[in-house]
Amino acid sequence: MKKILIGFIVVLFVAVTVIAFTAVADAADYIGVKKCKACHMKQYKSWKKTGLATAFENLKPGVKADAKKKAGLDADKDYTTDAKCLKCHTTGYGKSGGFKSLAETPKLAGVQCESCHGPGSEYKVLMKKDKKYKIADAKAKGLIVPSEDEKGCMACHGADNPFKGKFNFKEGLEKTHAHFPMKHEH
Ligand code: HEC
Ligand code: HEC
Ligand code: HEC
Ligand code: HEC
Repeated sequence: MKKILIGFIVVLFVAVTVIAFTAVADAADYIGVKKCKACHMKQYKSWKKTGLATAFENLKPGVKADAKKKAGLDADKDYTTDAKCLKCHTTGYGKSGGFKSLAETPKLAGVQCESCHGPGSEYKVLMKKDKKYKIADAKAKGLIVPSEDEKGCMACHGADNPFKGKFNFKEGLEKTHAHFPMKHEH
C-alpha cells in the first residue's frame, strides 16, 4: 500500500512539473506597438488616430472631467496607478511582459495592437520568418483573430467598465483601425 502511495505521489509530482513547464514555454510575452509598427505601418497610422492609442491619458487628473463626474468618479484624482483602471487602459496589464507602471513599461500604455491580437513575442518571429505563414500556425503562437474573439473585447467593453458605452461587436470590429487587404491567402 505504502509503495503504491509513493508511486502515486511521484507520478503526480512529475505530471505537475511537466504541466508547469509547458505553460511557461507556451506563454508569449507582450512586446509593444513599436515592434508591430515596423511591419504594419498602415494599420499603425490608422490606430494612432483612435482613442485606443491615447486611452491611458484618460486616467490623468482633469482629463475628461465631465465624463468622469457623470460616471461617479473623482475628476481630480490621479488614476494612473489604479489597478482597476489599468487593466482596461493599458496593454497586457498583469500578464507576462505586460504593462506594470508608466515608469517601468512606458511603451505599453494605452490599448495597443496586442490587446486585441494577443501577445506578439512568438507570432512576430513566425511572421518575420515566413510571410506566407499558415493562420493555424500563427494562432498556435498566440495570434488572436479579433472577429473570433468577442469575449476578448468584452473583457474591457463589458459590465465592469464604468463608462459602459453601447458596444456592438460587429460594428466595433470595423472601427478599430482601417483594414487593408492581406497579401497572402491562408
Ligand atoms: C517582421 C515583420 C512583422 C512583424 C514585426 C509583425 N508582423 Fe504581423 N504580419 C507580418 C506579415 C508579413 C503578415 C502577412 C501579411 C499579408 O499577407 O498581407 C502579417 C500579418 C499580421 C496579421 C494578420 C493575421 C492574419 O493572417 O489574418 C495581424 C493581425 C498581425 N500581423 C499583427 C501583428 C502584431 C500585433 C504585431 C506586433 C506584436 C506584428 N504583427 C508584428 C509581418 C510582421
Ligand atoms: C484592454 C482593454 C480593451 C480591449 C481588449 C478592447 N478594447 Fe476597445 N477600447 C478600450 C478603451 C479603454 C477604449 C476607450 C479609448 C478612449 O477613447 O479613451 C476603447 C475604445 C474602442 C473603440 C473606439 C475607438 C475610437 O475611435 O476612439 C472601438 C471601436 C473599440 N474599442 C473596439 C474594440 C473591439 C472590436 C475590441 C475587440 C476586438 C476591443 N475594442 C477590445 C479598451 C479595450
Ligand atoms: C472593464 C474595463 C474598464 C475599466 C475597469 C475602466 N475603463 Fe475606462 N473605459 C473603458 C472603455 C471600453 C471605454 C470606452 C467607452 C465605452 O465604450 O464604454 C472607457 C472610457 C473611459 C473614459 C472616457 C469616457 C468618455 O466618455 O469619453 C475615461 C475618462 C475612462 N475610461 C477612465 C477610467 C478610469 C478613471 C477608470 C478606473 C476608475 C476606468 N476608466 C476603468 C474600459 C474600462
Ligand atoms: C481594438 C482592437 C484592435 C486593435 C487595438 C488593433 N487591431 Fe488589428 N485588427 C482588429 C480587427 C477587428 C481586425 C480585422 C480582422 C478580424 O475581423 O478579425 C484587425 C486586423 C488586422 C490586420 C490584418 C489586415 C487588416 O488591415 O485588417 C493587421 C495586419 C492588424 N490588424 C495589425 C494591427 C496592428 C499593427 C495594430 C496596432 C498598431 C492593431 N492591429 C491594433 C482589431 C484591432
